[in-house]
Amino acid sequence: MLSAIASVIRSVMVVIMTVVTFIAPFSHKKESKIERKNENCKAAFAAISDTHLKDNFIRLGMFEFGLQDLAQAKDKLDAFVIDGDITDHGYPEHWQAFTDTLLKYDVSDNNIMVLGNHDTWGGDRTYEYTKSNFIKYSKDATGRDIDDVYFTADICGCPVIVLGSQADHTGPTFYRDQLDWFAEEMAKAAEKGLPIFVFCHQPFNGTHGLPYNWELEKDADPDDGGIGESSDEILEICNRYKNVVFISGHVHAGLSTADDKTNYSSVEKVGNVTSVNLPSYEYFDFMRGGHLFNGTGYIFEVYDNEILLRARNFATGTWLEKYDYVIEITG
Ligand SMILES: [Fe+2]
Repeated sequence: MLSAIASVIRSVMVVIMTVVTFIAPFSHKKESKIERKNENCKAAFAAISDTHLKDNFIRLGMFEFGLQDLAQAKDKLDAFVIDGDITDHGYPEHWQAFTDTLLKYDVSDNNIMVLGNHDTWGGDRTYEYTKSNFIKYSKDATGRDIDDVYFTADICGCPVIVLGSQADHTGPTFYRDQLDWFAEEMAKAAEKGLPIFVFCHQPFNGTHGLPYNWELEKDADPDDGGIGESSDEILEICNRYKNVVFISGHVHAGLSTADDKTNYSSVEKVGNVTSVNLPSYEYFDFMRGGHLFNGTGYIFEVYDNEILLRARNFATGTWLEKYDYVIEITG
């Protein structure tokens, strides 16, 4: 009974908050354009997650509000990353709607797509189908030539490593080929002596309020909502190096700090690694708490000695300084 009531409250709140956020861009002037906070910024990029796009004007409209904000940045962004669940179900029409909308705006010359579990659920749900679709739309939407769902990229010299599930389950599957590739690429990336950004749709097991924050049940399995069986290995590889920032989405939570009355923080340290769990850009879950508005994400600004994480609602053009975070770069 209680879970039925919670489910109804969740659905009603999602509708209310979606309507509120959708009309917000019309109801007040944008607070400010995106600009770098300090001088001598080496790289600035935006990251959002869980846009869950389909051929639905509300979802696409919310995405478009954000793209307008990003494209109006005073200094063009060095990259724009969407950290998985780009589409709601990975159907070609969902990918096409995403592609057509993204291509309307000149956000960055370096757009990066990350595969989420929802993106694997179109067609016959085979890996070959998912892989070919992801490769095709990555090329069409971003111009990026990739040959698999996991690949490397670069943001102003900072290495970027993108992980992608090799199966269609809610938790990801990383086979030995990808895990070995990841270890090799991390070793190569570390030689540059710059921050390394790793993108993976799912967070490490047990981080950001998991596993409770996934099913909202106290007896959840330890790997619920997380990477699952490869979590420890991927974390161990990340922890071999300095200045690794691991960026995930998937949980559909809002923004939260360690001081908030939630059971999670959007940014936390896991050993040497800084783990950032991006808020859900759309389709957030009211029951997880935190700052719950559609359109949220982070701008990352890289400086010589630190990385600034600046929370922003891209749909309304509003900075959310309370959720900002500073990562010190260690020599
Ligand atoms: Fe999602």
